[in-house]
Amino acid sequence: MTTPLHGTGDRLAPSVPVTPLFPVPDGLPLRVRGITEGELRELARLDEEVFEEHAYPYFVLRQFYDLYGDHLLVVDDGGRFHGYVLAGTDPDRGRSWILGLGIEEEWRGNGLGRVLMSECLHQLREERVREVRLTVEPANSAAIELYLSLGFTRVDRRENYFGPGADRLLMVLPLPG
Ligand SMILES: CC(C)(COP(=O)(O)OP(=O)(O)OC[C@H]1O[C@@H](n2cnc3c(N)ncnc32)[C@H](O)[C@@H]1OP(=O)(O)O)[C@@H](O)C(=O)NCCC(=O)NCCS
Repeated sequence: MTTPLHGTGDRLAPSVPVTPLFPVPDGLPLRVRGITEGELRELARLDEEVFEEHAYPYFVLRQFYDLYGDHLLVVDDGGRFHGYVLAGTDPDRGRSWILGLGIEEEWRGNGLGRVLMSECLHQLREERVREVRLTVEPANSAAIELYLSLGFTRVDRRENYFGPGADRLLMVLPLPG
């Protein structure tokens, strides 16, 4: 008997319909959903477009998918991904890290980042995760404002966090148990 590969369609997070916030090309409804292994290339395309030279190498995304694929959500219109969020949880400490959040540039400012983060936090609450952490570039006011509005607080500024000159703000959200 062949053992099915992890993520070949057996594990697909439930699709959560999102009310379109503006006209979508071809009238396709936007959805928040998990992805299949076969859609990793489209995720990599999106990640590269959003984060450019700071995008994850494909092999890292691939391994994140194997580890944390249940906490990887995208917004798609049926043909293309427009945003994604990824959370990785340490089950021993009940702590989750937001490892990626990105919306295609032309789709920003329409509430998609908030929808993705809210759905991800909802999932983590249901799983009784106690705390969510993330780091953000200190000048990234759009992301910081979004995180503050969701209840995250700034707890530290770490110099050279991602290497020389790459400082990061550490933000934390405790989740009630
Ligand atoms: C940060 C990011 C994910 C926000 O996504 P988005 O879909 O544009 O955000 P939303 O439309 O859902 O806005 C949610 C909140 O974010 C904040 N926000 C969004 N854009 C903002 C801007 N240009 N300036 C200030 N605050 C902003 C606001 O608080 C907003 O709430 P409001 O609509 O009630 O005012 C998006 O800008 C992005 O992908 N940026 C590039 C990648 C990135 O920086 N990722 C985060 C890495 S830590």
